[in-house]
Amino acid sequence: MRRKFKVAVLGATGMVGVRFISLLVGHPWFKLVAAAASERSKGQRLREAVRWLPPQGLPEEILEFEVKSLSPKELEAADVVFSALPSDVAGRVEEEFARAGFAVFSNASSHRMDKDVPVLNPEVNADHAFLVEEQRKRRRWSGFIVTNPNCTAAVLTLSLKPILDGFGIRRVLVSTMQALSGAGYPGVPSLDIVDNIIPFIKGEEEKVERETLKMMGSPSKPASFKISASCHRVSTIDGHLEAVFVELGRKAEPSEVAEAMEVFQGEPQKLGLPTAPKPPIVVKGENDRPQPRLDRMAGGGMAVVVGRMRKDPGLNGVKYVVLGHNTIRGAAGCSILNAELLAAKRLIS
Ligand SMILES: NC(=O)c1ccc[n+]([C@@H]2O[C@H](COP(=O)([O-])OP(=O)(O)OC[C@H]3O[C@@H](n4cnc5c(N)ncnc54)[C@H](OP(=O)(O)O)[C@@H]3O)[C@@H](O)[C@H]2O)c1
Repeated sequence: MRRKFKVAVLGATGMVGVRFISLLVGHPWFKLVAAAASERSKGQRLREAVRWLPPQGLPEEILEFEVKSLSPKELEAADVVFSALPSDVAGRVEEEFARAGFAVFSNASSHRMDKDVPVLNPEVNADHAFLVEEQRKRRRWSGFIVTNPNCTAAVLTLSLKPILDGFGIRRVLVSTMQALSGAGYPGVPSLDIVDNIIPFIKGEEEKVERETLKMMGSPSKPASFKISASCHRVSTIDGHLEAVFVELGRKAEPSEVAEAMEVFQGEPQKLGLPTAPKPPIVVKGENDRPQPRLDRMAGGGMAVVVGRMRKDPGLNGVKYVVLGHNTIRGAAGCSILNAELLAAKRLIS
């Protein structure tokens, strides 16, 4: 890389925003130059405005940043922005930044289903990245928007990719156990979730189903396999656990599927991108793994951990459990990996 890109985080005071900042500390290609959030936080020091901090904290010099407003003019020191805004504001704000020439890497759902906006999970569909060129031409923008998938779809699709490539997929059923941090900060009231499971997350099942097919198809056509998701909020802090049931395109033993996952390498691993986990999929043989507390930080939170691979007599295929860190692989880390991919492909300069 010739130089460090200057980056800003939009929604820097929230759960995903702070995760972005912590992953950008010491990044070899990106230097954080600004943090922005709502008018409520504008003008405060980041240390006063953040809603949450990771256990290791953030460097003092970053905590001293003044929180800026969400205006391209205020953030002109940056070339790239990472967006961790709620979707009701992200749509408009991200367009303003892309129009003003910024490369925008977004966690919000607002633009994910736009035809000319890639939903990128780089080990799964790096070949969709070039859609940004079509987007720029069509919208006459000097910048562009790249989105990463919903956290649940990010974890699911990474585990499905070697299955799709090696055996084909006819049908996927997934039942999720999703961590509290997935609801942002302050998130779900403690009196609703302690000693409880909430069997509904608004809009989640639809997002998982749509985004999985978009990512696993060609850039112009979604995949055609059937998918059905049931999503549930449980009282873990980080790490979404998903029970996955797959009808395969051809007959295969669970051991063959597990082996295909173990040896799988995506484009980020082949390109040696700084945030790429090696390996991207960790396969466990023990019956009681993966577990959120033990396994969510695999590969720095960027790998997914698969266990309990076995025959599925109902679907005549395989079933397994996959775990991934929702605010790292499922959010900020995936967005940073997307930016690394586009930088390596010289789509940002
Ligand atoms: N949490 C996850 O696991 C996860 C995973 C994937 C994707 N996402 C997506 O990432 C985005 C951020 O999620 P989060 O969990 O970090 O949410 P969060 O903790 O609620 O943080 C929201 C951020 O957006 C800012 N904000 C809120 N309302 C605003 C408004 N009206 N105008 C301008 N800024 C506003 C907040 O700034 P103030 O502090 O100034 O209010 C804060 O910085 C969402 O789109 C979410 O769906 C989250």
